[in-house]
Amino acid sequence: MDKKLIWFFLITGVLFISSCYYDKEELLYGNPKAPCTDTTTNISYSNYVVPVFRQYCYNCHTGSFPSGNILMGTYTTDQAIAQNGKLYGCISYSAGYSPMPKGMARLTNCQVANIKKWIDAGAPNN
Ligand code: HEC
Repeated sequence: MDKKLIWFFLITGVLFISSCYYDKEELLYGNPKAPCTDTTTNISYSNYVVPVFRQYCYNCHTGSFPSGNILMGTYTTDQAIAQNGKLYGCISYSAGYSPMPKGMARLTNCQVANIKKWIDAGAPNN
């Protein structure tokens, strides 16, 4: 075969595969690389953090036998995982932590960033 033709197939093949890869990543995880432009400060536990947890975490982490023995659902329990580093470790997919929410799309960059603002403010009960 013509050398030029081989290069053509090689390059379009690589482009095709990599475009599929990125499509899938966005579908699965939102776009984790998109920077968060939300400049909100004073993140509220009850108005911001709890609704996110209710949608993505409490299903598995409340009740008598919470998954991974990690109990959430009250300010005291949620504050505990905020302060021992596990909350941020898990939702930011950091090495050494189980990625959360388990079996679901990753939280958006803004959700992760805003929860981090709440943690950095001392995880207040506001
Ligand atoms: C579908 C069930 C499910 C959901 C939803 C879920 N988790 Fe988990 N979580 C688990 C299980 C199971 C474990 C035990 C570790 C493992 O299997 O990865 C765990 C472990 C953890 C741990 C301890 C992991 C570690 O590395 O120390 C934390 C903290 C945690 N989850 C927080 C969260 C948060 C925060 C959310 C919501 C953003 C969430 N989980 C959503 C099932 C779930």
